[in-house]
Amino acid sequence: MATSKHDVIERSVGLMIVLTLLTVSVGGLVEIVPLFFQKSLTQPIDREGNPLDIKPYDALSLTGRDIYVREGCYNCHSQMIRPFRAETERYGHFSVAGEFIYDRPFQWGSKRTGPDLQRVGGRYSDEWHRVHLNNPRDLVPESNMPAFPWLNRPVDARSIEKKLTVLRTLGHPYTDEQIAGARAELEGKTEMDAVVAYLQGLGTALSNFK
Ligand code: HEC
Repeated sequence: MATSKHDVIERSVGLMIVLTLLTVSVGGLVEIVPLFFQKSLTQPIDREGNPLDIKPYDALSLTGRDIYVREGCYNCHSQMIRPFRAETERYGHFSVAGEFIYDRPFQWGSKRTGPDLQRVGGRYSDEWHRVHLNNPRDLVPESNMPAFPWLNRPVDARSIEKKLTVLRTLGHPYTDEQIAGARAELEGKTEMDAVVAYLQGLGTALSNFK
């Protein structure tokens, strides 16, 4: 009985593994490598190529973002508005990739115990957020969001210069002055101030497209 080339491959597990890995690697590279060169994913532009007014997070918002991650807000809140009518009517313009270039890691998520937060910036006053984070039920009686009263403590500013420096090596355009002045920016601020600053900036770069 003549053995075909396929028989040879299928009867040799080692060869099969090597060839499978090779196929998957080539396929993966062909899909992934072009993404690094696609402007809409690497520069702050919208789908039509218009520039977005996106700046890297300032020291206070970046600190707020880290607290958002620490507290696990992403377990209940997505930051990704899908291009469907039900979503855009409720939340605003759908998300575009260029909005997230300074998000490391991004907070897209898909779990929505609470509403999507990508365009929450500017929707409420700072005071609203403070009262809400302190105890959501003071504003929304039926809310099952936990209270975060411990955010009323001073921010830990010790590593802020280091964080900005690391992000700069990854391509976030921070200036020397910004890095040198970061600790002063956090002087006297609470974690609550930081989270509110972060929330108020969310999704605002696309607001003129609403
Ligand atoms: C256990 C799930 C849960 C967690 C964790 C959670 N939330 Fe919520 N969040 C909700 C729910 C449910 C609502 C809707 C009711 C309300 O407004 O309180 C909400 C509402 C909100 C709103 C108002 C959104 C809008 O458009 O009206 C903001 C802002 C918010 N959460 C921020 C946060 C932040 C910041 C954190 C982390 C510090 C957090 N949430 C953690 C469940 C959660």
